[in-house]
Order: sequence, then structure tokens, then C-alpha cells
Amino acid sequence: MADTLSITDNRTGETYEVPIEDDTIKSMDLRQIKVNDDDFGMMAYDPAFLNTASCRSSITYIDGEAGILQHRGYTIEDLCAKSSYLEVAYLLVFGELPTEPQLERWVYDVTHHTFVHEDMRSLYRGFRHDAHPMGILLAGVGAMSTFYPHAKEIDDPEERYMAAIRMIAKMPTLAAFSYRHSLGLPYVYPDNDLSYAGNFLGMMRKMTEVKYEPDPRLEKALDVLFILHADHEQNCSTAAVRSVGSSRVDPYSAVAAGVAALYGPLHGGANEAVLKMLRRIESVDNIPGFLEGVKNGDEKLMGFGHRVYKNYDPRARIVKKHVDEVLEIVGANPLLDIATELEKRAMDDEYFTSRKLYPNVDYYSGLIYEALGIPSEMFTVIFAIPRTAGWIAQWMEMNGDSAQKIARPRQIYTGDRDLEYVPIADRTGPEKITGPPARRPVKARRGA
Ligand code: CMC
Repeated sequence: MADTLSITDNRTGETYEVPIEDDTIKSMDLRQIKVNDDDFGMMAYDPAFLNTASCRSSITYIDGEAGILQHRGYTIEDLCAKSSYLEVAYLLVFGELPTEPQLERWVYDVTHHTFVHEDMRSLYRGFRHDAHPMGILLAGVGAMSTFYPHAKEIDDPEERYMAAIRMIAKMPTLAAFSYRHSLGLPYVYPDNDLSYAGNFLGMMRKMTEVKYEPDPRLEKALDVLFILHADHEQNCSTAAVRSVGSSRVDPYSAVAAGVAALYGPLHGGANEAVLKMLRRIESVDNIPGFLEGVKNGDEKLMGFGHRVYKNYDPRARIVKKHVDEVLEIVGANPLLDIATELEKRAMDDEYFTSRKLYPNVDYYSGLIYEALGIPSEMFTVIFAIPRTAGWIAQWMEMNGDSAQKIARPRQIYTGDRDLEYVPIADRTGPEKITGPPARRPVKARRGA
């Protein structure tokens, strides 16, 4: 049987043969389908890219129905059990697990680029004390492009390597500085004696002690969370990095677009939203009422559902295991009882099962962050740290892919055309003025 698709256009009676490769047809092959010679040709309409592949990629494999996640062919379970985050970052960026000397060099390079330019502190000082750390991080990553102007030479492999090293190395520093800024605490400089995760914990938590020594079990839990968040193929933020990067802008600016996309509550902001939701539910007794609200469409069960996983998110399974371990070290958290019961009831409810809504990675990760003493505003920031490796890997792959061009979606225009211009004095319309009120009420803000 031929690997082709026959399409008959019933408007004209014409039949077209379109090649099929990897169970996919090329949208451009539809363009030949025309009613007449002046016709632009047929397009595919796919808001939110529900069924459109925008690239070929060998970085991350997901089987959403089966709940499988693999990076460069290795299962997420193996990577979490046997690798460190930096090893996984190397795997994502270079395509293969590193040899010992390769890993040694990679870790050395990352460790020795963790400091940020002192002027970055001045930039940070400009933010209000209650600025959301994700907003600060977003600005910080964008600003990095001004500190490394040569990064715009994106065809130079050395520049690409340095940008990868610098972003992976400095993201924890920028993230921790955002946090310390929001508390009015002095920034803590990186400590090269500590691991990637341990150093981040130190920059967040160090106070008067001469040397910060992380609890190795908590350090390991954070490293596993970093691995789990390292890449997830063409999600909203990765698509943003690729789309912005396709203009051949420098990688810092492209990654800043990813940080912005991740900030949203439907993407990386979900773990913060989960904690807020659990606090709002307040007690196990309020779960039935809350679930009714979800089913009526008044609420969303945050941390549930996924565009790709129509099964238990394999990352959520691993996170859940670590929640118990971490809580054993730091003490029980009543929110875990609410989360566990909420999950159980949702999994028994036809509304969720029929829609294949299962817990995703963010359902339990917030509980670990909270147990580590990290405030909820920082959760998305902590997601951005490990995802940087994925964004860079995807950005590099895109730049090496000769099929890629500047991203430029099509639209179906639905507005008026060729109207006669009406001078303002002749325009009529409803009496009611639309738009914002002349004076908006000023909301009281926390602090100064
Ligand atoms: N709570 C209640 N109903 C939901 C939820 C939810 N969390 N998620 C989806 N649904 C319903 C949705 O209303 C729709 O119902 P109906 O068919 O009656 O209209 C149906 O399930 C299908 O949902 P959808 O909106 O078409 O799914 P999507 O693929 O567009 O959205 C999602 C995926 C993750 C944005 C969505 O499930 C959601 O908003 N979840 C909550 C936010 C969240 O946890 N996000 C983190 C995602 S994992 C981390 C990451 O990669 O960023």
C-alpha cells in the first residue's frame, strides 16, 4: 500500500495524492488544493497547535497515552535514579550521556560560571521589594543578552557553548537573587564547593553561618525535581523559545521568551496555583464542595490534566515518592492530606476519568518546595532553572535544522474589508463608552 493520502476536493471533484511520512502530512502539500488559479490554496486551521508538528526533534519522547517520558532514548525513571541533573542537562544539549572526563569538564565549566555581573545587582535593586520573583527573573535573563553581546553570533559553536554554560550556570544565581530581593535579604554568592542543587539551596537559605551545608537528602530531592523538569518537548514555553529564536535573536532573549511563557498559571505557574488551591480548600471536609465547583466549571483542579498525558504523568509518580521522603525529614504537612484525598476523590469521579484528567508533575512538586522552606512565589522560578537546559537543547536543535525558517503562522481573516473611511465627526455608535474607566481605583499594595 502506498504511503500517501488521497484527498478529494468536493468543490471541484479534483483528487490529490499527498505523501505521508511518520504518520504525518505536510501542511504545505495542502496548498496545491485550489478552486481556481487565483485561489491562495488550502491551509490547515489548528489553534493552539492541537495537532500540528512544528519540528522534527530527537530530544524528548512522550507517549501520552501510555505515560512514557524519555530523554534522548533514556527513561525518566532511569535518569532520576541514576543521573544527576547536570548529567541530564549534558545529555539534552549534546545528545549523549557524557563520559567521565566530559562530565567533569561540563560540571567544572558550569560551576565556574555561576557568578553574575555585579551590574545585575543594580538592575535587581530597581524592583519593588514585593515584585514577583518570576518577573524579576524574566528581566534578568533578558538583560543577560546585554552583558554577552557576542552571543548574537549564533552560528559560532564556541558562542553557543558559552551561552549554554552561562545560562545553565547563572539561572540558579538569578533565581536566588530574585528571592533574596523579595525578602530584603543580602544576596548570597555562589559556592563552588557545593553541587548544583546544593549551591542553589545555599544561595536561597544561607544566613550568618560561615559555610552552608545542605542536607544531602533534600539536595538529592531537589536534584531529582530538576531532572523531572529539564525538558518536555514542544510545550508552551519551548514553543516560545523556538518561535522567538527562529528570528535568529541571541539565545538569552529567546530563553527570556520561554521564562515569560512559563510564568503563566496554565504552564509553570500551576505548582504555585496548586498550593493556593490546597490552602483555599483548607480541610478535607471541603473537598466535595470544591470538586462540585470544578465540575460546574467555576473552578479548575490545578495540577490535573495535561495536553499530552492522558494517563498518570510519569513525573508526578516520581515526585509523589519524594514527597513522602522529604516530609519524613522535615515533618508532616497538613496540605499533603488534602492533596492525597483530593486526588483519590477525583480519580473516583467520572468527570475526571472520562476526560482522562490525572495529576501532572505540578500537583505534588509544590509540596516538596514548601517542605524545603521555599515560598510559593518561587515555585515557577525553580521550574525555570532546570528547564533552561531543555530550552537550550531545543534552541540548538532548531538552529541546526535546515527545514526551519522564521516562525510565521497563517491566519484566517474574519474582519471587514475595503470600508469607506468615516471622519470622526460623522461616526455614530452606542452612548456607553467602552474601555477602562477614566480613573481606576488604586489597589492597596503590601508594604511601602
Ligand atoms: N480541572 C478541571 N477540568 C479540566 C482540567 C482541570 N485541571 N483540565 C482540563 N479540564 C477539562 C476541560 O474543561 C475540558 O472539559 P470539556 O471537554 O467539558 O470542555 C477537558 O477537560 C479537556 O481539557 P482542555 O482544556 O481541552 O485541555 P488542554 O489540553 O487544552 O489543557 C491544561 C491542558 C494543562 C492547560 C489543562 O488541563 C489545565 O488547565 N490544567 C490545570 C493547570 C495545570 O495543572 N497545568 C500544568 C500542566 S503540567 C506542567 C507543564 O508542563 O507546564
